[in-house]
Amino acid sequence: MNVIKTIREMQNWSDKMRMAGHIIGFVPTMGFLHKGHLELMRIAKQHCDTLVVSIFVNPIQFGPEEDLKTYPRDTHGDLEKLRKLHVDAVFMPQSKDMYPHGFQTEIQVKSLSQHLCGRSRPGHFTGVATVVTKLFNITKPHVAVFGQKDFQQLQVIRRLIIDQNMDIKIIGAPIVREPDGLAMSSRNSYLSHEERKSALCLKQSIDMAHKMLKEGVIDCKAIKTKIKDLILSYPFTQIDYITFCNTNTLEEVDILKDETLLAMAVRVGKTRLIDNTVLRKNMTDQADNQGSGGL
Ligand code: PAJ
Repeated sequence: MNVIKTIREMQNWSDKMRMAGHIIGFVPTMGFLHKGHLELMRIAKQHCDTLVVSIFVNPIQFGPEEDLKTYPRDTHGDLEKLRKLHVDAVFMPQSKDMYPHGFQTEIQVKSLSQHLCGRSRPGHFTGVATVVTKLFNITKPHVAVFGQKDFQQLQVIRRLIIDQNMDIKIIGAPIVREPDGLAMSSRNSYLSHEERKSALCLKQSIDMAHKMLKEGVIDCKAIKTKIKDLILSYPFTQIDYITFCNTNTLEEVDILKDETLLAMAVRVGKTRLIDNTVLRKNMTDQADNQGSGGL
């Protein structure tokens, strides 16, 4: 496995691979890898013959009050996991190289960035779109995989690809969960034992929404009220948002349509957790479905 730390070296490596006729797959991450990340890599491998993974805690997608300094890191453990998966190259740039003195070009995906997490994290998706554009220009992939755990991020990237005429296929990967239902996240490591129990309210809300829809409830307000009660019945919880929206535009809806995204952000103690599901009318089973959302 090639561990590449400079931008020039990464670009040269990808050029060589492309010239040799390889199909490059790419999975960008911020490290502290868990099974959700590894699943993205497994899926990527089905669409490429050369896999590049990046590990970079991108400072410009964190707000001033957010957890950039404390974001969990485990480079040694990450590299072990990637070696076992036979990843071909790991790109680990430094901040000073990604954002050298004088850096000033940002990519803003306007409307999609303003809904859901965009409200409480202003600038976040501009930070994401900017770094992902840079990472695409550096790793030069044919295909890239993003998780539906960050549904809004995935839609922002899809829009970016269309709007900037990037010749990269984007694949959305289903949410990977712990056995008890909690969506895997590097930030779960912040949770205390007691908070970890409260964190289950997110998946329970998703299950409840599916159940209510199955029983014929299509009024989003009614489902939202129940979810609010459920979440606030747990200690340490504070709701950032519970939103029902169009899977493509992310604009809010009042009544469940054929396909509606239920997205939530909840603080459990100091940890902000997100989760989502696609609610489909006429859905026969209540499994944790993943919406197409134009995927
Ligand atoms: P990070 O949070 O490390 O996530 C990297 C990728 O893993 C994202 O596409 C995310 O959606 C996916 N992922 C995380 N947890 C998942 C889970 N439980 N199931 C499925 N996929 C999961 O997202 C980022 O990093 C950054 O914003 C990045 C895109 C790297 C840009 O800095």
